[in-house]
Amino acid sequence: MPTYLIKGASVVGAAPTDLLVRDGVVVETGRGLDAAGAVTVDADGLVALPGLVDLHTHLREPGREDAETVESGSRAAALGGYTAVFAMANTSPVADTAGVVEQVWRLGREAGLVDVQPIGAVTVGLAGEHLAELGAMASSAAGVRIFSDDGFCVADPRLMRRALEYVKAFDGIIAQHAEEPRLTEGAQMHEGEISTRLGLTGWPAVAEEAIIARDVLLTEHVGSRLHVCHVSTAGSVEVLRQAKARGIRVTAEVTPHHLLLTDERAVSYDPVFKVNPPLRTAADVTALRAALVEGVIDVVATDHAPHGVEDKECEWAYARPGMLGLETALSIVLDVLGPQWDLIAERMSRSPARIAGLAGHGVDPAPGVPANLTLVDPTARRTVEPAELASRSRNTPYAGMTLPGRVVATFLRGEPTVLDGKAVR
Ligand code: DOR
Ligand code: ZN
Repeated sequence: MPTYLIKGASVVGAAPTDLLVRDGVVVETGRGLDAAGAVTVDADGLVALPGLVDLHTHLREPGREDAETVESGSRAAALGGYTAVFAMANTSPVADTAGVVEQVWRLGREAGLVDVQPIGAVTVGLAGEHLAELGAMASSAAGVRIFSDDGFCVADPRLMRRALEYVKAFDGIIAQHAEEPRLTEGAQMHEGEISTRLGLTGWPAVAEEAIIARDVLLTEHVGSRLHVCHVSTAGSVEVLRQAKARGIRVTAEVTPHHLLLTDERAVSYDPVFKVNPPLRTAADVTALRAALVEGVIDVVATDHAPHGVEDKECEWAYARPGMLGLETALSIVLDVLGPQWDLIAERMSRSPARIAGLAGHGVDPAPGVPANLTLVDPTARRTVEPAELASRSRNTPYAGMTLPGRVVATFLRGEPTVLDGKAVR
């Protein structure tokens, strides 16, 4: 493995420094470093961040390799500045056994572009009826710590309680897709003025808020840990704020698209804007941004959800919900927050790594730290071209938009996965 000398990077926005990376570790930092035989990486004007960590990625393998594979999704992640992604369980077959999570984990290690950490299903087949083998997945080679039926809500309160009790034994987490199914039957978009105008069945904010309220109370009762996926409403933020103030062990994520886009987009009837939970109002976006800054929302997670053209280039009502996210997340967050590098590092790397208990990730580059890092050009602007994305799918809602920031290089344990803005493999 070559030694790399990264010259003149601003570590999380601090004054420029050199970083010497050897045997997978940052071994030395300081100005004017020299190392015979090292490969030099010019990082003049670039910001170095701890490698980004995504708590919510859909890789479609096994089952829908036409839409994404572990390898193509890993490449998209590396290009987005990520060094670790948590792969959701709604594959086919569902990741509800030790066998399937080990398969995904192994495919991730073989691709070697990011650390792929499988999330296990909470219930068998995501059917919401019987608990899956949580313990077997936890003690498998994949070492699963986070469980989720994402795509579906664990709606049965008794099952949710049992799941929280079960994972408490090994300090695991239940990541809830908060959607009361009886309140969202047939829903096509956010319930509000625009859904009324378009005549589309609405997905009311209270369907999310009611489940979060229930689950924080269950979590308090059990003394376990809850993570709330893709928080999308101002009311959810208030429930979370109160729960945190009471010391309940709940964490929450917001997606880049819920930080930027609103339900106005549905007016186009372009299914690229169909997502679950749906795009909400401008007031919700404002509340989500404030909650992210304040820390009521802990992390930005992509909910990268690749879909093939047959599932997206059709009538709105028939389209599958979901948007690509990995290759644009950092740019969207930079656009929303501005160059607040410490906050960006916290919400996109340190905090998700801490929540997941993921060793070696989410630590700022410094001597002795595993070299999982990304180099970002904060002044570059780029226009999103769907055809240029590494994902196998094309369903980005940002096509044609010019966004700030460009990932120039990503290192996974001291090996570049991206150099000069291009995937190394
Ligand atoms: O928009 C979404 N897409 N929301 C989900 O909960 C699931 C996801 C998917 O798997 O496509
Ligand atoms: Zn999801």
